[in-house]
Amino acid sequence: MQRRDFLIASLRAGAAFGAANAWPAFALSPEGRAFDAAIAAQPWLKPFKGVTDQDLRCDALTLSGRWPADFRGRFYRNGPALYERDGQRYHHWFAGDGMVQQFSFGGGARPAVRHLGRLVRTPKLAAEQQAGKFLYSAYGTKIESDAPTQGTDSFNVANTNAIEHAGRVLAMWEGGSAFAMRPDDLATLGPVTWQEGLAQMPFSAHPKLDAHGHLWNFGSAGRNLVVWHIDPAGRLVDAQIGETPYPGGMAHDAAITERYIVLPLPPIKLHFGEDAASGQAFTYEANEPLRILVMRKDDIAQRRVFELPSQMVFHVGNAHERADGSIALSFVGSPTPEFVMNTASSLLAGHPGSFGGSSTQLAVLDMRSGRVRVESMNDIVEFPRVHPLRNGLDTRWLLTAATWAGSAAKPLWFHGLQLRDLRTGRAQRYDYGPQTVVEEHILVPKPGAQGELDAWLLGTTYDVKRGVTRVNLLDARHLADGPIAQATLPYGLPYGFHGNFTAA
Ligand SMILES: [Fe+2]
Repeated sequence: MQRRDFLIASLRAGAAFGAANAWPAFALSPEGRAFDAAIAAQPWLKPFKGVTDQDLRCDALTLSGRWPADFRGRFYRNGPALYERDGQRYHHWFAGDGMVQQFSFGGGARPAVRHLGRLVRTPKLAAEQQAGKFLYSAYGTKIESDAPTQGTDSFNVANTNAIEHAGRVLAMWEGGSAFAMRPDDLATLGPVTWQEGLAQMPFSAHPKLDAHGHLWNFGSAGRNLVVWHIDPAGRLVDAQIGETPYPGGMAHDAAITERYIVLPLPPIKLHFGEDAASGQAFTYEANEPLRILVMRKDDIAQRRVFELPSQMVFHVGNAHERADGSIALSFVGSPTPEFVMNTASSLLAGHPGSFGGSSTQLAVLDMRSGRVRVESMNDIVEFPRVHPLRNGLDTRWLLTAATWAGSAAKPLWFHGLQLRDLRTGRAQRYDYGPQTVVEEHILVPKPGAQGELDAWLLGTTYDVKRGVTRVNLLDARHLADGPIAQATLPYGLPYGFHGNFTAA
């Protein structure tokens, strides 16, 4: 397919989503009030209330513990944040407008730790701020309006991940452009067009930085697939276009190896503007396999599709090429689509159901025979991360948010961290304890250090009792000891998805 055709296909997809705006609107509902009542009974849900249009700022977080003098830089997180406007409330966690959180660490034993939270000023947000109401349908929520759409960026919420690369922050979503923001003040600079003629081609939310600073990413729309290669200066090296083996399916995260891109394609299709009554933003095709598409980085037409038993997958850990030519892939998978199909909606309504339960999976993909072997670990985890300089290389340690039986209290959600040794299978854990909700944590290399565990673990938690969000720093070699230092905000943040750290 030619690039122009791809663009036209993307724009048509946008037009089709726009047509959803003609569907009947749900009446102004008491959903917001009902949710407020749910918070009173289950205060851990409060971050799903979301934010208003105001920026969030704190110039001096409350510090405790011992901050390493050489921990200096900016920690970004992104996630859905604005859920309510003019009496309307979204019906799915993934629907909210994205807000990028920036935590800046000045270094030294008593560092200045600052926070800035700003909504990504997408065309959708700007139009809805001006109108004072939602204008565009979102995951799980139909909105009636005649607001114009010009491709998927008309309803891009830029709410899934944020990374600072080549001097700008990229706020990313799965179905459209990345939005650039200024690191200094998180001012939104606009959607990134990597090359003329490629505007609005999806740049999905899980790019992978290789050891040389090159950014690899993909995008999927309808039948089409694009693989992006960005150099360390932020310039496009190449954009290859092909077809997906699972048209219309969700393509969320991919791993890289030295020569390949490894893209899981779970049997799920997404729908914008679903029927408000059905509560379904996705269709799960349980009779379809989990496909894993392996493409050569230098020619994505050279590829192999592996088929595994049906399961839901959002995130990969890492992949690498083994001496025998096979590819080892770690990922997190769930036998049921319970979370995305039901829980991510019921959370927004204030009555969380079952979280399903996703676990660490280790697959070996035989590139010669097309056979695949999978081993499931006995754990309940999400948000897998590895050492950021080891994408595509053999990694020993996989960090995840985790929950497990025997916790001090009935877990609300993820309440701990797990570092799994993929060589021995053994796992180390740290339990943040009851009344704490644990979000994604990442590995941050110590300055000048090489070893996988010569790193800090950095991530946010929500303190349910105090209603505040906290940044935690742990030593990867001593996970069980818990945080060595913490910085606490005077307010709570919406639960987010993903983030990254840039050393200063
Ligand atoms: Fe994700």
